[in-house]
Amino acid sequence: MSIAKKEYKRVTVKSLVDMKQLGEKISMLTAYDYSMAKIVDAANVDVILVGDSASNVMAGHETTLPITLDQMIYHASSVIRGVYRALVVVDIPFGSYQSDPKEALRSAIRIMKESGAHAVKLEGGVEIKESIKRILNAGIPVMGHLGLTPQSIYKFGTYTVRAKEEEEARKLKQDALLLEKYGCFAIVLEKIPAKLAKEVAESLTIPVIGIGAGNGVDGQVLVFHDLLGITQEFNPRFLRRYMNLYEDMGKAISQYVQDVKDKDFPNDEEQY
Ligand code: KIV
Repeated sequence: MSIAKKEYKRVTVKSLVDMKQLGEKISMLTAYDYSMAKIVDAANVDVILVGDSASNVMAGHETTLPITLDQMIYHASSVIRGVYRALVVVDIPFGSYQSDPKEALRSAIRIMKESGAHAVKLEGGVEIKESIKRILNAGIPVMGHLGLTPQSIYKFGTYTVRAKEEEEARKLKQDALLLEKYGCFAIVLEKIPAKLAKEVAESLTIPVIGIGAGNGVDGQVLVFHDLLGITQEFNPRFLRRYMNLYEDMGKAISQYVQDVKDKDFPNDEEQY
């Protein structure tokens, strides 16, 4: 899986729109450090998201709220060093864009300048339109995020499926159209009915990437730790686990402990 830098044509915001037009589904996965990002990029994932889910899976917080802008920049700059092909998108964390558009722009600029990322993602629709416009006006590509927006978890009160009721579904559709109109290059739809997600994807020219939003959208995103079975306690219906790394890594580490205790490691060939 080694990569020669030159063989790769970089994924850009433009190539994602082309993929939608050609009917090629977009793959997106999170990564939070250099080694993870190298593996994900070499596996030809189109978009790497440095998600604020780092707050959960890397730092052990219950929600995405505590992670800071400095911590996101640290994760993003580590990821960037491992990537040759994918488009790298970074979440602007809670508290770094909600108070006013100038703050939003300052946060986006810090992410782009200090990490070398290619785009930012923000949660919300019409409520944050001025922030989105200001960031876009500065030439920074923006990915939207609607549906279940984990930074608002205390407003929702639960992580259940969003937009099942007519009124919320209508607002979501309006927000999606607005995000496209302002110039967002793509939108993530999280945990909403598949029928609604398909309708939104069909009404837009920009790609819609789903997580728990069915198969009628233009691409899928998952969290690295969930796909590989490192997280055990998170079992939503939408999640397909491709490995059980929690168990496999645990077995390997137990074997190492046993080998040390048995004085089997290191053996004659494993020393100088
Ligand atoms: O932070 C994250 O990982 C995300 C994805 C779940 C879309 O926003």
